[in-house]
Amino acid sequence: MSSFHFKNGTLCAEQVSLTAIAEQYQTPCYVYSKAALTDAFKQFQAGLTQADHLVCFAVKANPSLAILNLFATLGAGFDIVSGGELARVLAAGGDPKKVVFSGVGKSHEEMRAALNAGILCFNIESESELHRLNAVAGEMGKVAPVSLRVNPNVDAKTHPYISTGLKNNKFGVAFESAIALYEQAAAMPNIAVHGVDCHIGSQITELSPFLDALDRVLGLVDHLESKGIHITHIDVGGGIGITYSDEAPPAFAEYTQAILQKLAGRNVKVLFEPGRALVGNAGVMLTKVEYLKMGNLDDADKPKNFAIVDAAMNDLMRPALYDAYHDIVAVQPRDGEARTYEIVGPVCESGDFLGRDRTLNLEEGDLLAVKSAGAYGMSMASNYNTRPRAAEIMVDGDKHHLIREREQVKQLFSLEKLIP
Ligand code: LLP
Repeated sequence: MSSFHFKNGTLCAEQVSLTAIAEQYQTPCYVYSKAALTDAFKQFQAGLTQADHLVCFAVKANPSLAILNLFATLGAGFDIVSGGELARVLAAGGDPKKVVFSGVGKSHEEMRAALNAGILCFNIESESELHRLNAVAGEMGKVAPVSLRVNPNVDAKTHPYISTGLKNNKFGVAFESAIALYEQAAAMPNIAVHGVDCHIGSQITELSPFLDALDRVLGLVDHLESKGIHITHIDVGGGIGITYSDEAPPAFAEYTQAILQKLAGRNVKVLFEPGRALVGNAGVMLTKVEYLKMGNLDDADKPKNFAIVDAAMNDLMRPALYDAYHDIVAVQPRDGEARTYEIVGPVCESGDFLGRDRTLNLEEGDLLAVKSAGAYGMSMASNYNTRPRAAEIMVDGDKHHLIREREQVKQLFSLEKLIP
């Protein structure tokens, strides 16, 4: 049974009704299921027990300390992209020796922090970055473990904003120049070549782009071996998609088996960097209908009805940014005639919508759950329109815990100063 399900006409997270959550913590708020998070992580790992592996949760998908802590206790490593994410992982009890550091723009300071923490690997994305890391590690008297993130030039067939494996993206090192850069890296005194890394995009719902990319990576690994450069781990990145509406991504077991099959007979550790797949369907965003605003039936165009809710694009940016679809359901569905609504927020932008053309039977004051909001929801939230960011709650069986308080308006400008 899904961790979000209806019981006596009310949507519940595990054994807690979402109306009770909204009453206690108000809306908008994010609600996560501990069981769903735990199951996702365990299921991902289930297919990997025979292999030398590490699952590094991509922190950017949901950096909540409580979620990082839960994954750390389950044995996860972490994929970070900033010094801020490193600090979070450490604060949440994550093991720095299980951290990989991705991203195209690592600063001197971020490199120093990661070297001090003793992370597992830097995923290097350019020649300049390699030189900088060698210099920073040299100043600290350390040797930095690296992978080069190579760009295999495969089409992940996903939204262009979240596709990263094509040669015209800003990410990674062009495949053609990878060998020469590995040779440089191998000759640097403060760099130790450990791995090859590849991440081709996000919300990928087919296996073939992953396998095509891995074939190219393995060709590179063999070529490096022939040059005397030994690779001890392959990081296959993240990107496995989830079901938002009718997508049918490969099951975890199918995905991990296909990858392990390609690695059969090789003495390498395999690293994964899943984000969305571990948290996306383990969270919902709760919001309340403030106003219903009906279209004029005499209108020549198709009249639009608006349900104006108390969550907005600053709380969940994916619909506005990618035209992404999130299922939206009433927490206590009503019988009777449904209407078609645009579900919109209070922010002053026409792009501020959470869902379009949704058929629901609504009254003002009703609670809605925006589903599949566990990934890239709260992590991309902003304070646009001076809106405090939402509270976050974790449900565990029949208990619920506030894992992040709702921001207070005065905190939003507490760092600001008037000029004299
Ligand atoms: N590794 C690297 C280097 C990444 O850049 C990403 C995501 C991941 C792993 C995790 O990918 P996942 O397994 O979550 O697909 N904001 C967008 C998604 C951006 C993904 C950025 N990189 C969205 O809301 O759809």
